[in-house]
Amino acid sequence: MKSLTANELRKLYIDFFVSKGHRQISGASLIPENDPTVLFTTAGMHPLVPYILGAEHPAGKKLVDYQKCIRTGDIDSVGDPHHLTFFEMLGNWSLGAYFKKEAIEYSYEFLTQCLGIDPAKLSVTVFAGDENAPRDDEAANVWRSLGISEDRIHFMPKEDNWWGPAGETGPCGPDSEMFIDTGRPACGPDCRPGCSCGKYFEIWNDVFMGYRKDEKGEYKEMERKCIDTGMGIERTIAILQGKKSVYETEVFTPIIAKVEELCGRKYGEAEDDDVSIRIISDHIRTSVFILGDQRGMAPSNVGQGYILRRLIRRAVRHGKKLGIDHAFLSDIATVVLSLYQDAYPELKERQDFIFDELKKEEAKFSETLVKGEREFEKMLPNLMKGNSRQISGRLAFKLYDTYGFPIELTVELAKEHGFTVDEKGFQEAFQKHQEISRAGAEQQFKGGLADHSEATTALHTATHLLHKALSVVMGGYVKQLGSNITAERLRFDFNCPRAMTKEEIKAVEDLVNEQIQKDLPVTIEVMSPEEAKAQGAAAQFDAKYGEQVKVYSIGDFSKEVCGGPHVEHTGTMGHFRIVKEQSSSAGVRRIKAVLEK
Ligand code: ALA
Repeated sequence: MKSLTANELRKLYIDFFVSKGHRQISGASLIPENDPTVLFTTAGMHPLVPYILGAEHPAGKKLVDYQKCIRTGDIDSVGDPHHLTFFEMLGNWSLGAYFKKEAIEYSYEFLTQCLGIDPAKLSVTVFAGDENAPRDDEAANVWRSLGISEDRIHFMPKEDNWWGPAGETGPCGPDSEMFIDTGRPACGPDCRPGCSCGKYFEIWNDVFMGYRKDEKGEYKEMERKCIDTGMGIERTIAILQGKKSVYETEVFTPIIAKVEELCGRKYGEAEDDDVSIRIISDHIRTSVFILGDQRGMAPSNVGQGYILRRLIRRAVRHGKKLGIDHAFLSDIATVVLSLYQDAYPELKERQDFIFDELKKEEAKFSETLVKGEREFEKMLPNLMKGNSRQISGRLAFKLYDTYGFPIELTVELAKEHGFTVDEKGFQEAFQKHQEISRAGAEQQFKGGLADHSEATTALHTATHLLHKALSVVMGGYVKQLGSNITAERLRFDFNCPRAMTKEEIKAVEDLVNEQIQKDLPVTIEVMSPEEAKAQGAAAQFDAKYGEQVKVYSIGDFSKEVCGGPHVEHTGTMGHFRIVKEQSSSAGVRRIKAVLEK
């Protein structure tokens, strides 16, 4: 096996698939565009859903990329040697160009030739079949033809060998997962790929996107079948480098070294400290990517901003646990930036924002901690009066929920004053709260992925008109910093050092409505980014050289690089009204606007 770094693996993978006729496309934002149903991009295929469902991709039918992903399902599991909230996924796609045979052959060639993995150590799984789809003998036969022996091909049920949809509805299908047998003894007679004992290490997943799950939960076969694959960079380099944990690879060791320097303790000496060190390293790495995303945002109490806040606060708390008594997040963020700014140039572009927001949130939470301690001291005389020397779970949860006061700290303080805490009661209150928020999160997934309803489509077009109108009224310096669209309203963030005046807001509204009344045609052209730039199209992302982009023009008024969809004529959009213009963060204004019929 070749011991590769993350940078080497990224390049090797992209080069391999480019040599097989794939086009490299840019990874997308971590925050799904115009998709209010999910918080973060969770897989490489996520931004490609419309294309897997049939839309034509401007770069063609064979694609390859690396994609930043966040999975927040188990933030509270981070701390062990394996869990991560942020990771990078390599992927190659066929949008109706090739299917199982070629996909598996490419995977096999890359694993054995490029990564130098001994074919005798490969084990694979394939779908066993059920009422929705047949047993995948086709995939198994391809593996057999490549020389994988029968005892290394495992047929597994839907729980293991079916991927997607990413939301409630959308493309999905049987998959074939590839594992490296580490050579450790099997943990029992049932030990096989997917077992958690550590014998088998999952390295890649080929998904045969042949079905679409609909609103009724039924699986419909898709006419045009696609390939979606995913290889996690961190996991893969760990196995290639012979490391037991992703935290021992070069994408973490410099971060961990910085934490060690700040706290004066060593990683690998005490399990409690290791947990805190891993939490800080993972959480600040993820926070830097959220803040530094092309559609990045500040900590807040809702949506992605809330996840960000939780990550930052948990890291601060663990810093205190390690004895760090000063602001330290920026020091860690500096290391993360130096590790990733070449692969993700947006981080460097937004570094001031990253550092400002980390500093603000760290200061705010440190204050919260002081306040929480004060509250605790205030409660003490009352507690002392009672007979019980135990603090109720309800009270501990109140400290947590109202003051962001972590349970570990309540326990610690309680102990100092001769009290215990009903931790079980706390967990119960906490779980109840989580169930409520999880129900909320699940609600967000309802409706599947991108919402391309009439309302959101019109608001999408209105966003282009607004963008242009702002640059006319406020000045050419105006740049889109973020956009979010629901069926009810659009939200648009842009750079501007001050609030807009009433007159300016009115002028922008008028200019937009004028374009709507003119019933301008909306047209689309596919061209290279260089050409788009030469034509003065507004663009938000750095497309890779050679990549094709879609450019939408609204009459002669606006020209913008965008994935769509848009209305065909502006006349159908209704009346545009700005309902709010407010500060979003330093130097950033936020507009909320609606279309009224
Ligand atoms: N979309 C597939 C995954 O995330 C490849 O595993």
